Amino acid sequence: MTTPLRFDETHYQSAQVTVNGRALRYRAFLGLDYVTIPVDAIQQLNVFVPEPYFNSGQVNGYTRVTAPIFMPNTVGGYLPGPRDFPGNQASFSRGATILQALSRGYVVVSAGLRGRTSKTSQGEYSGKAPAFIVDMKAAIRYVKFNAGWIPGNPDRIITNGTSAGGAISALAGASGNTDFFETALQALGAAPATDDIFAVSAYCSVHNLEHADAAYEWQFNGLIDWHQQRYTVVNNQVKRTSISGELTANEQQLSNELKSAFIPYLNHLELKDHAGNPLQLQADGSGSFRRFIDDYLTVSAQRALSAGADVTAVQGVKVNNGRVASLDWSAYLQGIGRMKRVPAFDARDLSSPETALFGSRLLAARHFTAFGQERSAVPAQLADASLVAAINPLTYLTSHQCQIAQHWRIRHGAADRDTSFAIPVILATKLQNLGLDVDFALPWGRPHSGDYDLPELFEWIDKLCQPATE
Ligand code: DHB
Repeated sequence: MTTPLRFDETHYQSAQVTVNGRALRYRAFLGLDYVTIPVDAIQQLNVFVPEPYFNSGQVNGYTRVTAPIFMPNTVGGYLPGPRDFPGNQASFSRGATILQALSRGYVVVSAGLRGRTSKTSQGEYSGKAPAFIVDMKAAIRYVKFNAGWIPGNPDRIITNGTSAGGAISALAGASGNTDFFETALQALGAAPATDDIFAVSAYCSVHNLEHADAAYEWQFNGLIDWHQQRYTVVNNQVKRTSISGELTANEQQLSNELKSAFIPYLNHLELKDHAGNPLQLQADGSGSFRRFIDDYLTVSAQRALSAGADVTAVQGVKVNNGRVASLDWSAYLQGIGRMKRVPAFDARDLSSPETALFGSRLLAARHFTAFGQERSAVPAQLADASLVAAINPLTYLTSHQCQIAQHWRIRHGAADRDTSFAIPVILATKLQNLGLDVDFALPWGRPHSGDYDLPELFEWIDKLCQPATE
Protein backbone atom coordinates (compact mmCIF):
# COMPACT_ATOMS: atom_id res chain seq x y z
CA MET A 1 0.00 0.00 0.00
CA THR A 2 1.32 3.45 -0.79
CA THR A 3 1.80 5.88 2.08
CA PRO A 4 -0.68 8.75 1.90
CA LEU A 5 0.90 12.09 0.87
CA ARG A 6 4.08 10.34 -0.28
CA PHE A 7 5.73 12.20 -3.17
CA ASP A 8 5.87 10.01 -6.29
CA GLU A 9 8.91 10.77 -8.40
CA THR A 10 7.69 8.67 -11.34
CA HIS A 11 4.71 10.84 -12.32
CA TYR A 12 5.87 14.00 -14.04
CA GLN A 13 5.93 16.02 -17.20
CA SER A 14 9.20 17.15 -18.75
CA ALA A 15 9.56 20.68 -20.04
CA GLN A 16 12.21 22.76 -21.72
CA VAL A 17 12.16 26.56 -21.91
CA THR A 18 14.66 29.33 -22.54
CA VAL A 19 15.45 31.50 -19.50
CA ASN A 20 17.92 34.39 -19.75
CA GLY A 21 19.00 33.04 -23.16
CA ARG A 22 19.77 29.57 -21.82
CA ALA A 23 17.93 26.29 -22.11
CA LEU A 24 16.31 25.19 -18.89
CA ARG A 25 14.97 21.65 -18.51
CA TYR A 26 12.83 20.74 -15.57
CA ARG A 27 10.29 18.18 -14.38
CA ALA A 28 6.82 19.29 -13.31
CA PHE A 29 4.87 17.29 -10.74
CA LEU A 30 1.39 18.74 -10.93
CA GLY A 31 -1.76 18.73 -8.83
CA LEU A 32 -0.47 16.82 -5.79
CA ASP A 33 -2.73 16.60 -2.75
CA TYR A 34 -0.94 18.07 0.27
CA VAL A 35 -3.63 17.00 2.75
CA THR A 36 -5.62 13.74 2.92
CA ILE A 37 -8.97 15.38 3.75
CA PRO A 38 -9.14 18.47 1.50
CA VAL A 39 -12.13 20.80 1.79
CA ASP A 40 -11.39 22.74 -1.40
CA ALA A 41 -10.01 21.76 -4.80
CA ILE A 42 -7.40 24.52 -4.43
CA GLN A 43 -5.55 22.47 -1.77
CA GLN A 44 -3.03 20.93 -4.14
CA LEU A 45 0.51 21.83 -5.01
CA ASN A 46 2.94 21.73 -7.92
CA VAL A 47 6.60 20.77 -7.62
CA PHE A 48 9.18 21.84 -10.21
CA VAL A 49 12.66 20.36 -10.22
CA PRO A 50 15.66 21.19 -12.45
CA GLU A 51 16.30 18.15 -14.67
CA PRO A 52 20.01 17.74 -13.80
CA TYR A 53 19.08 16.65 -10.26
CA PHE A 54 17.74 13.39 -11.70
CA ASN A 55 21.07 12.63 -13.38
CA SER A 56 23.48 13.35 -10.52
CA GLY A 57 24.00 16.82 -11.99
CA GLN A 58 24.49 20.23 -10.40
CA VAL A 59 22.94 23.64 -10.99
CA ASN A 60 24.52 26.78 -9.56
CA GLY A 61 26.55 24.68 -7.14
CA TYR A 62 23.51 22.78 -5.83
CA THR A 63 22.69 19.09 -6.06
CA ARG A 64 19.50 17.10 -5.62
CA VAL A 65 20.28 16.98 -1.89
CA THR A 66 21.44 20.54 -1.24
CA ALA A 67 19.10 22.64 -3.44
CA PRO A 68 16.97 25.18 -1.53
CA ILE A 69 13.21 24.66 -1.70
CA PHE A 70 11.55 27.91 -2.76
CA MET A 71 7.84 28.23 -1.89
CA PRO A 72 6.23 31.27 -3.53
CA ASN A 73 2.50 31.85 -3.10
CA THR A 74 0.08 33.64 -5.41
CA VAL A 75 -2.17 35.18 -2.76
CA GLY A 76 -3.19 38.82 -3.26
CA GLY A 77 -5.89 40.74 -1.43
CA TYR A 78 -6.38 37.75 0.88
CA LEU A 79 -8.15 36.05 -2.04
CA PRO A 80 -7.61 32.38 -2.86
CA GLY A 81 -4.11 31.85 -4.29
CA PRO A 82 -4.07 28.97 -6.79
CA ARG A 83 -1.00 26.79 -7.35
CA ASP A 84 1.16 28.33 -10.02
CA PHE A 85 3.21 27.14 -12.99
CA PRO A 86 5.61 28.60 -15.55
CA GLY A 87 3.80 30.16 -18.47
CA ASN A 88 0.63 30.79 -16.43
CA GLN A 89 -1.12 33.77 -18.07
CA ALA A 90 -3.48 34.58 -15.18
CA SER A 91 -2.89 37.96 -13.50
CA PHE A 92 -2.09 36.46 -10.10
CA SER A 93 0.62 34.20 -11.55
CA ARG A 94 4.29 34.44 -10.62
CA GLY A 95 5.26 32.05 -13.40
CA ALA A 96 8.29 34.18 -14.33
CA THR A 97 9.55 34.00 -10.73
CA ILE A 98 9.30 30.21 -10.83
CA LEU A 99 11.36 30.03 -14.01
CA GLN A 100 14.05 32.33 -12.60
CA ALA A 101 14.18 30.26 -9.40
CA LEU A 102 14.55 27.03 -11.37
CA SER A 103 17.35 28.54 -13.44
CA ARG A 104 19.17 29.25 -10.13
CA GLY A 105 18.85 25.58 -9.25
CA TYR A 106 16.07 25.86 -6.69
CA VAL A 107 13.34 23.29 -6.28
CA VAL A 108 10.05 25.20 -6.46
CA VAL A 109 6.91 24.17 -4.59
CA SER A 110 3.80 26.21 -5.38
CA ALA A 111 0.82 25.40 -3.19
CA GLY A 112 -2.75 26.53 -3.77
CA LEU A 113 -4.13 28.30 -0.67
CA ARG A 114 -7.71 29.04 0.30
CA GLY A 115 -8.76 32.68 0.58
CA ARG A 116 -11.53 34.90 1.85
CA THR A 117 -13.96 34.10 -1.00
CA SER A 118 -13.48 30.30 -0.95
CA LYS A 119 -16.73 28.39 -0.48
CA THR A 120 -17.81 24.79 -0.01
CA SER A 121 -20.25 23.12 -2.41
CA GLN A 122 -22.93 23.88 0.22
CA GLY A 123 -22.20 27.59 -0.18
CA GLU A 124 -20.49 28.10 3.17
CA TYR A 125 -17.25 30.06 3.43
CA SER A 126 -14.26 27.76 3.84
CA GLY A 127 -11.32 30.11 3.41
CA LYS A 128 -11.74 32.74 6.10
CA ALA A 129 -8.87 33.31 8.54
CA PRO A 130 -6.89 31.30 9.46
CA ALA A 131 -7.39 29.03 6.40
CA PHE A 132 -4.60 30.60 4.33
CA ILE A 133 -1.91 29.91 6.93
CA VAL A 134 -3.29 26.48 7.77
CA ASP A 135 -2.95 25.55 4.09
CA MET A 136 0.53 27.07 3.85
CA LYS A 137 1.64 25.09 6.89
CA ALA A 138 0.07 21.91 5.52
CA ALA A 139 2.05 22.42 2.29
CA ILE A 140 5.26 22.98 4.29
CA ARG A 141 4.55 19.83 6.31
CA TYR A 142 4.02 17.92 3.07
CA VAL A 143 7.47 19.00 1.87
CA LYS A 144 9.16 18.14 5.17
CA PHE A 145 7.30 14.81 5.42
CA ASN A 146 8.73 14.01 1.98
CA ALA A 147 12.33 14.74 2.97
CA GLY A 148 14.50 12.56 0.75
CA TRP A 149 11.62 11.96 -1.66
CA ILE A 150 11.12 15.45 -3.03
CA PRO A 151 14.46 16.69 -4.37
CA GLY A 152 15.92 19.60 -2.43
CA ASN A 153 16.86 20.28 1.18
CA PRO A 154 13.80 20.51 3.46
CA ASP A 155 15.97 22.33 6.01
CA ARG A 156 16.34 25.14 3.45
CA ILE A 157 12.72 26.10 2.79
CA ILE A 158 12.28 29.75 1.80
CA THR A 159 8.78 31.19 1.46
CA ASN A 160 8.03 34.16 -0.78
CA GLY A 161 4.98 36.36 -1.27
CA THR A 162 3.70 39.84 -1.96
CA SER A 163 1.23 41.91 0.06
CA ALA A 164 -1.30 39.50 1.60
CA GLY A 165 1.01 36.83 0.19
CA GLY A 166 3.93 38.54 1.93
CA ALA A 167 1.95 38.40 5.16
CA ILE A 168 1.54 34.64 4.69
CA SER A 169 5.25 34.28 4.07
CA ALA A 170 6.11 36.28 7.20
CA LEU A 171 3.54 34.45 9.31
CA ALA A 172 4.87 31.06 8.18
CA GLY A 173 8.35 32.21 9.21
CA ALA A 174 7.29 33.57 12.60
CA SER A 175 4.93 30.81 13.73
CA GLY A 176 6.89 27.59 13.08
CA ASN A 177 5.32 24.64 14.93
CA THR A 178 2.89 26.76 16.95
CA ASP A 179 0.05 24.84 18.60
CA PHE A 180 -2.59 27.29 17.46
CA PHE A 181 -3.28 25.72 14.07
CA GLU A 182 -2.78 22.09 15.11
CA THR A 183 -6.46 21.14 15.32
CA ALA A 184 -7.18 22.63 11.91
CA LEU A 185 -4.15 20.87 10.42
CA GLN A 186 -5.21 17.55 11.92
CA ALA A 187 -8.76 17.99 10.59
CA LEU A 188 -7.37 18.37 7.06
CA GLY A 189 -5.17 15.31 7.44
CA ALA A 190 -1.94 17.28 7.10
CA ALA A 191 1.26 15.24 6.92
CA PRO A 192 2.88 14.35 10.25
CA ALA A 193 5.85 16.71 10.14
CA THR A 194 7.05 20.03 11.52
CA ASP A 195 6.31 23.34 9.75
CA ASP A 196 9.17 25.63 10.77
CA ILE A 197 11.13 27.06 7.85
CA PHE A 198 14.63 28.35 7.15
CA ALA A 199 14.03 31.78 5.63
CA VAL A 200 11.38 34.31 4.66
CA SER A 201 11.13 36.63 1.69
CA ALA A 202 8.27 39.10 2.11
CA TYR A 203 7.34 41.99 -0.16
CA CYS A 204 5.02 44.76 1.10
CA SER A 205 3.43 42.46 3.64
CA VAL A 206 -0.02 43.69 4.75
CA HIS A 207 -0.02 42.30 8.29
CA ASN A 208 -0.35 43.29 11.97
CA LEU A 209 -3.95 44.03 11.06
CA GLU A 210 -5.15 44.85 14.58
CA HIS A 211 -2.71 47.81 14.64
CA ALA A 212 -2.67 48.68 10.94
CA ASP A 213 -5.49 51.25 11.16
CA ALA A 214 -3.72 53.17 13.92
CA ALA A 215 -0.37 52.96 12.11
CA TYR A 216 -2.00 54.26 8.93
CA GLU A 217 -3.41 57.32 10.68
CA TRP A 218 -0.19 57.96 12.57
CA GLN A 219 1.37 58.25 9.12
CA PHE A 220 -1.35 59.93 7.06
CA ASN A 221 -3.24 61.99 9.65
CA GLY A 222 -3.83 65.46 8.23
CA LEU A 223 -3.94 64.22 4.63
CA ILE A 224 -7.57 64.48 3.61
CA ASP A 225 -7.48 63.55 -0.08
CA TRP A 226 -7.39 59.85 -0.86
CA HIS A 227 -7.00 58.14 -4.19
CA GLN A 228 -6.85 54.49 -5.11
CA GLN A 229 -7.41 51.89 -7.78
CA ARG A 230 -10.41 49.64 -7.53
CA TYR A 231 -9.76 46.13 -8.75
CA THR A 232 -12.39 43.84 -10.14
CA VAL A 233 -11.77 40.43 -11.62
CA VAL A 234 -13.37 39.86 -15.00
CA ASN A 235 -12.69 36.56 -16.80
CA ASN A 236 -9.72 35.86 -14.55
CA GLN A 237 -8.12 39.19 -15.51
CA VAL A 238 -7.85 42.12 -13.11
CA LYS A 239 -9.59 45.31 -14.23
CA ARG A 240 -8.58 48.66 -12.63
CA THR A 241 -10.54 51.86 -12.14
CA SER A 242 -9.29 55.02 -10.37
CA ILE A 243 -11.39 56.43 -7.56
CA SER A 244 -10.68 59.36 -5.24
CA GLY A 245 -12.29 61.63 -2.65
CA GLU A 246 -11.88 63.53 0.60
CA LEU A 247 -12.20 62.24 4.14
CA THR A 248 -15.44 63.29 5.80
CA ALA A 249 -15.36 65.27 9.05
CA ASN A 250 -16.18 62.07 10.92
CA GLU A 251 -13.34 60.20 9.22
CA GLN A 252 -10.95 63.02 10.12
CA GLN A 253 -12.05 62.71 13.75
CA LEU A 254 -11.51 58.93 13.64
CA SER A 255 -8.10 59.57 12.12
CA ASN A 256 -7.13 61.70 15.13
CA GLU A 257 -8.27 58.99 17.54
CA LEU A 258 -6.44 56.24 15.69
CA LYS A 259 -3.25 58.27 15.45
CA SER A 260 -3.30 58.78 19.22
CA ALA A 261 -3.83 55.06 19.76
CA PHE A 262 -0.73 54.18 17.76
CA ILE A 263 1.69 55.98 20.05
CA PRO A 264 1.26 53.84 23.20
CA TYR A 265 1.21 50.70 21.04
CA LEU A 266 4.53 51.59 19.43
CA ASN A 267 6.09 52.62 22.73
CA HIS A 268 5.11 49.41 24.50
CA LEU A 269 6.94 47.36 21.84
CA GLU A 270 10.21 48.77 23.26
CA LEU A 271 11.97 48.54 19.91
CA LYS A 272 15.64 49.42 19.64
CA ASP A 273 17.67 50.86 16.77
CA HIS A 274 20.87 49.22 15.47
CA ALA A 275 22.90 50.74 18.29
CA GLY A 276 20.46 49.62 20.99
CA ASN A 277 18.85 53.05 21.49
CA PRO A 278 15.12 53.06 22.26
CA LEU A 279 12.71 53.87 19.42
CA GLN A 280 9.84 55.90 20.78
CA LEU A 281 7.13 58.36 19.76
CA GLN A 282 5.96 61.55 21.45
CA ALA A 283 2.30 62.41 21.85
CA ASP A 284 2.37 64.48 18.63
CA GLY A 285 3.60 61.48 16.63
CA SER A 286 7.19 62.64 16.19
CA GLY A 287 10.21 60.99 17.78
CA SER A 288 13.05 58.53 17.31
CA PHE A 289 10.86 55.86 15.69
CA ARG A 290 9.80 58.31 12.98
CA ARG A 291 13.39 59.44 12.45
CA PHE A 292 14.35 55.76 12.17
CA ILE A 293 11.91 55.38 9.23
CA ASP A 294 13.21 58.66 7.79
CA ASP A 295 16.70 57.18 7.86
CA TYR A 296 15.56 54.08 5.94
CA LEU A 297 13.92 56.34 3.33
CA THR A 298 17.02 58.53 3.11
CA VAL A 299 19.32 55.51 2.66
CA SER A 300 16.96 54.31 -0.07
CA ALA A 301 16.94 57.70 -1.81
CA GLN A 302 20.72 57.83 -1.60
CA ARG A 303 21.03 54.40 -3.17
CA ALA A 304 18.75 55.49 -6.04
CA LEU A 305 20.63 58.77 -6.45
CA SER A 306 23.98 56.97 -6.59
CA ALA A 307 22.49 54.69 -9.27
CA GLY A 308 21.59 57.78 -11.34
CA ALA A 309 17.93 58.37 -10.43
CA ASP A 310 16.50 61.89 -10.13
CA VAL A 311 15.30 61.61 -6.55
CA THR A 312 14.39 65.30 -6.37
CA ALA A 313 11.47 64.48 -8.67
CA VAL A 314 9.90 63.13 -5.47
CA GLN A 315 8.34 65.72 -3.19
CA GLY A 316 10.25 66.44 0.03
CA VAL A 317 13.70 65.26 -1.07
CA LYS A 318 16.66 67.69 -1.06
CA VAL A 319 19.99 66.87 -2.66
CA ASN A 320 23.24 68.69 -1.99
CA ASN A 321 26.58 67.88 -3.66
CA GLY A 322 25.49 64.43 -4.79
CA ARG A 323 24.14 63.49 -1.35
CA VAL A 324 20.56 63.25 -0.15
CA ALA A 325 20.65 66.13 2.33
CA SER A 326 17.17 65.80 3.83
CA LEU A 327 13.80 64.15 3.50
CA ASP A 328 10.82 66.14 4.74
CA TRP A 329 8.39 63.59 6.21
CA SER A 330 5.16 65.61 5.66
CA ALA A 331 6.09 66.73 2.14
CA TYR A 332 7.14 63.21 1.22
CA LEU A 333 3.85 61.74 2.43
CA GLN A 334 1.90 64.43 0.63
CA GLY A 335 3.77 63.44 -2.52
CA ILE A 336 2.95 59.73 -2.29
CA GLY A 337 -0.55 60.50 -1.03
CA ARG A 338 -3.13 58.75 1.11
CA MET A 339 -4.72 55.70 -0.48
CA LYS A 340 -7.29 54.55 2.10
CA ARG A 341 -10.21 55.99 4.03
CA VAL A 342 -10.62 55.67 7.81
CA PRO A 343 -10.32 53.10 9.30
CA ALA A 344 -8.12 51.87 6.47
CA PHE A 345 -8.43 48.15 7.23
CA ASP A 346 -11.31 47.51 9.64
CA ALA A 347 -13.68 49.45 7.35
CA ARG A 348 -16.85 50.73 9.01
CA ASP A 349 -19.03 49.32 6.24
CA LEU A 350 -17.21 45.94 6.15
CA SER A 351 -16.05 46.66 2.60
CA SER A 352 -12.32 45.97 3.06
CA PRO A 353 -10.48 42.76 2.16
CA GLU A 354 -9.47 42.43 5.81
CA THR A 355 -13.02 42.48 7.19
CA ALA A 356 -13.83 39.80 4.60
CA LEU A 357 -10.78 37.82 5.71
CA PHE A 358 -12.21 37.74 9.24
CA GLY A 359 -15.64 36.56 8.15
CA SER A 360 -16.83 33.19 9.37
CA ARG A 361 -18.36 30.03 7.91
CA LEU A 362 -21.64 31.92 7.47
CA LEU A 363 -20.66 35.60 7.54
CA ALA A 364 -19.06 37.35 4.58
CA ALA A 365 -17.22 39.81 6.83
CA ARG A 366 -16.67 40.80 10.47
CA HIS A 367 -14.86 43.55 12.27
CA PHE A 368 -11.59 42.60 13.89
CA THR A 369 -10.89 45.55 16.19
CA ALA A 370 -13.02 46.85 19.05
CA PHE A 371 -12.55 50.31 17.53
CA GLY A 372 -14.12 49.22 14.23
CA GLN A 373 -16.89 47.25 15.89
CA GLU A 374 -17.91 50.17 18.14
CA ARG A 375 -18.10 52.50 15.15
CA SER A 376 -19.58 50.07 12.66
CA ALA A 377 -21.83 51.63 10.04
CA VAL A 378 -23.63 48.30 9.52
CA PRO A 379 -24.88 45.49 11.76
CA ALA A 380 -21.75 43.49 12.44
CA GLN A 381 -19.95 40.97 14.61
CA LEU A 382 -16.44 41.08 16.00
CA ALA A 383 -13.90 38.33 15.26
CA ASP A 384 -12.27 36.65 18.24
CA ALA A 385 -9.18 38.57 19.39
CA SER A 386 -7.23 35.30 19.68
CA LEU A 387 -7.87 34.58 15.99
CA VAL A 388 -6.79 38.08 15.00
CA ALA A 389 -3.60 37.70 17.03
CA ALA A 390 -2.96 34.21 15.62
CA ILE A 391 -2.49 35.50 12.08
CA ASN A 392 -0.23 38.37 13.15
CA PRO A 393 3.47 37.43 12.82
CA LEU A 394 4.30 39.87 15.65
CA THR A 395 2.37 37.71 18.11
CA TYR A 396 4.92 34.93 17.77
CA LEU A 397 7.91 37.20 18.12
CA THR A 398 6.91 37.94 21.69
CA SER A 399 5.56 34.53 22.75
CA HIS A 400 8.82 32.53 22.70
CA GLN A 401 6.91 29.36 21.93
CA CYS A 402 7.68 28.99 18.27
CA GLN A 403 10.49 28.17 15.99
CA ILE A 404 11.15 31.44 14.17
CA ALA A 405 12.91 31.38 10.79
CA GLN A 406 16.54 32.49 11.19
CA HIS A 407 16.76 34.58 8.00
CA TRP A 408 14.47 37.34 6.77
CA ARG A 409 14.47 39.50 3.67
CA ILE A 410 11.79 42.17 3.91
CA ARG A 411 11.09 44.71 1.18
CA HIS A 412 8.48 47.45 1.22
CA GLY A 413 8.40 50.01 -1.59
CA ALA A 414 9.14 53.61 -0.57
CA ALA A 415 6.11 54.66 -2.65
CA ASP A 416 3.80 52.00 -1.15
CA ARG A 417 0.67 53.44 0.49
CA ASP A 418 -1.28 50.25 1.12
CA THR A 419 -0.10 50.10 4.71
CA SER A 420 2.01 52.38 6.91
CA PHE A 421 5.82 52.14 6.72
CA ALA A 422 5.58 51.52 10.45
CA ILE A 423 4.20 48.02 9.83
CA PRO A 424 7.22 46.52 8.02
CA VAL A 425 9.62 48.58 10.15
CA ILE A 426 8.14 47.16 13.36
CA LEU A 427 8.44 43.62 12.01
CA ALA A 428 12.00 44.03 10.77
CA THR A 429 13.12 45.80 13.95
CA LYS A 430 11.51 43.29 16.31
CA LEU A 431 13.25 40.47 14.41
CA GLN A 432 16.56 42.33 14.55
CA ASN A 433 16.12 42.96 18.25
CA LEU A 434 15.61 39.22 18.73
CA GLY A 435 19.01 38.67 17.13
CA LEU A 436 17.74 37.19 13.87
CA ASP A 437 19.32 37.80 10.48
CA VAL A 438 17.31 40.56 8.76
CA ASP A 439 17.87 42.26 5.42
CA PHE A 440 15.39 45.13 5.27
CA ALA A 441 14.95 48.00 2.82
CA LEU A 442 12.35 50.42 1.47
CA PRO A 443 13.29 50.38 -2.25
CA TRP A 444 13.05 53.83 -3.77
CA GLY A 445 10.05 54.67 -5.94
CA ARG A 446 8.55 51.19 -5.65
CA PRO A 447 4.78 51.09 -5.33
CA HIS A 448 2.85 48.19 -3.80
CA SER A 449 4.42 45.25 -5.64
CA GLY A 450 6.87 42.37 -5.34
CA ASP A 451 9.44 40.15 -7.06
CA TYR A 452 10.98 43.26 -8.71
CA ASP A 453 14.54 42.45 -7.65
CA LEU A 454 14.81 38.69 -8.13
CA PRO A 455 18.56 38.69 -8.90
CA GLU A 456 19.20 40.34 -5.50
CA LEU A 457 16.73 38.05 -3.73
CA PHE A 458 18.38 34.99 -5.23
CA GLU A 459 21.86 36.25 -4.36
CA TRP A 460 20.66 36.56 -0.78
CA ILE A 461 19.36 32.99 -0.88
CA ASP A 462 22.57 31.68 -2.48
CA LYS A 463 24.73 33.31 0.20
CA LEU A 464 22.71 31.45 2.83
CA CYS A 465 22.33 28.13 1.04
CA GLN A 466 25.23 27.43 -1.29
CA PRO A 467 27.50 24.79 0.20
CA ALA A 468 30.88 26.25 1.17
CA THR A 469 33.30 25.75 -1.71
CA GLU A 470 36.59 25.61 0.21
C1 DHB B 1 -3.53 43.73 -0.48
C2 DHB B 1 -3.56 45.10 -0.61
C3 DHB B 1 -4.20 45.85 0.34
O1 DHB B 1 -4.24 47.21 0.27
C4 DHB B 1 -4.81 45.24 1.43
O2 DHB B 1 -5.43 46.00 2.33
C5 DHB B 1 -4.76 43.86 1.55
C6 DHB B 1 -4.11 43.11 0.60
C7 DHB B 1 -2.83 42.92 -1.52
O3 DHB B 1 -2.39 43.49 -2.53
O4 DHB B 1 -2.70 41.71 -1.32
